[in-house]
Amino acid sequence: MSHDLLIRRASLIDGSGREPFIADVAIDGDRIVAIGDLGHPDARETIEAQGLVLTPGFIDVHTHDDTNVIRTPQMLPKLSQGVTTVVVGNCGISASPVRLSGEVPDPMNLLGRAEDFRYPTFAAYAEAIEQAQPSVNVAALIGHTSLRSQVMDRFDRAASDPEIAAMREQLETALAEGALGMSSGLAYRNAYHAPTAEMNTLVETVGRAGGVYTTHLRDEFAGLPEAMDEAFATARHGRAPLVISHLKCAGAGNWGNAPKALSKLDDAARAHGVHCDCYPYTAGSSTLDLGQVTDEIDIFITWSDPHPEMARQPLKTIAEQWGLSLMDAARRLQPAGAVYHNMSEADMRQVLAHPLSMVGSDGLPNDPHPHPRLWGAFPRVLAHYSRDLKLLPLTEAVRKMTGLSAANFGLTDRGEIRVGAFADLVLFDLDALEDTATYTTPIAQASGIELVIVNGVIGYRQGKASEPRAGRLLRRQVRLSARPSRPGS
Ligand code: ZN
Ligand code: CU
Repeated sequence: MSHDLLIRRASLIDGSGREPFIADVAIDGDRIVAIGDLGHPDARETIEAQGLVLTPGFIDVHTHDDTNVIRTPQMLPKLSQGVTTVVVGNCGISASPVRLSGEVPDPMNLLGRAEDFRYPTFAAYAEAIEQAQPSVNVAALIGHTSLRSQVMDRFDRAASDPEIAAMREQLETALAEGALGMSSGLAYRNAYHAPTAEMNTLVETVGRAGGVYTTHLRDEFAGLPEAMDEAFATARHGRAPLVISHLKCAGAGNWGNAPKALSKLDDAARAHGVHCDCYPYTAGSSTLDLGQVTDEIDIFITWSDPHPEMARQPLKTIAEQWGLSLMDAARRLQPAGAVYHNMSEADMRQVLAHPLSMVGSDGLPNDPHPHPRLWGAFPRVLAHYSRDLKLLPLTEAVRKMTGLSAANFGLTDRGEIRVGAFADLVLFDLDALEDTATYTTPIAQASGIELVIVNGVIGYRQGKASEPRAGRLLRRQVRLSARPSRPGS
């Protein structure tokens, strides 16, 4: 029997967390058709993979690639890390269903300029992805702030009952058209005034459709415990599984609190489906938020609309140059982007190593000087934290970027290497693997990624993307359960 593609003698890590084993993998069309000692069957292409590690393609569960998968479908920042699926629409902001008049509300401006918001329905967005044919698969959440932008004239208040009803209708339609669930970004000023009642109604809609609720918590600083409680209560009310976005203990006064936060997560997970995502860095990045301006941490300005010439410098340096306070300088720079060095290494490591966390880059693809997580998050977990520091076993690191991620977002037949699964695969040289992106040189391709296969098609080989691009839009197909995933543990 002849196969389309045969990968021989790779060390397989299948995404479930089980131990590696040496095997051959045969692929026909877009699926894995055989695994084991297959001998030397005929194949259109055979890859000798002795000494290399083969895993499921990585699933980046936290991205802001909404318009980039259409505008820059090569998706090199992600493909070059071994990512084969991106989940877009996080932190309350999505490209659809959005029709804008005037300025792009913060932080929707992370996704692009006004002209990039051209998808009044999820169906229109889905069609644009199919036309663009990105190199990676795309699954999408609907952003709560994006919904607000469609029905509210101002954001500094709760939505009225008719406005909530209108948001719910748009959300229902998008979920029916294949969106995975809803995200919120309650810490941002344009969502902060949304009270429990507004969130409850929308998350009920998510739960009824069998979708997932993800949230950038209302407070990642001193109010973290209360913000986690709020998220748990909302998800329980709506009977939707919960993913807390980029769980962190932000702000110098909050360092050392990861054990407390993680034990809260564990407690909640006993009764309800609860997980989180995180990235392997101690700095966050977003738009420049006056609420986070402080002299307690280093803040680095990555872009500024009114003062592009001041970008790529610490806020402190800019303030000194202008003879202004940090706050006044920040005000003058807005709208702007920033990297906030606001976490402790010990806290971040505990979140990353915790069994309920998944890896998500939170990369910002439209930032001219992006946080290095955009190009480096996945190799950094595998090479730096697993191989070098032994923070977690390689099998567990891979599970957090493949099997666990596919299960939590309902990505059927993805995130695992087994017969019948889609052939989304990455082959890497563990010794050579390295994230090379840094805060000073953030645009840099990882080394050690040998081959990336998306839906059975080789999309990346030894540092270069190749055609055809084979990514697809992944519509929600299954009902996600809100039941705990590890009962009694
Ligand atoms: Zn966020
Ligand atoms: Cu985000």
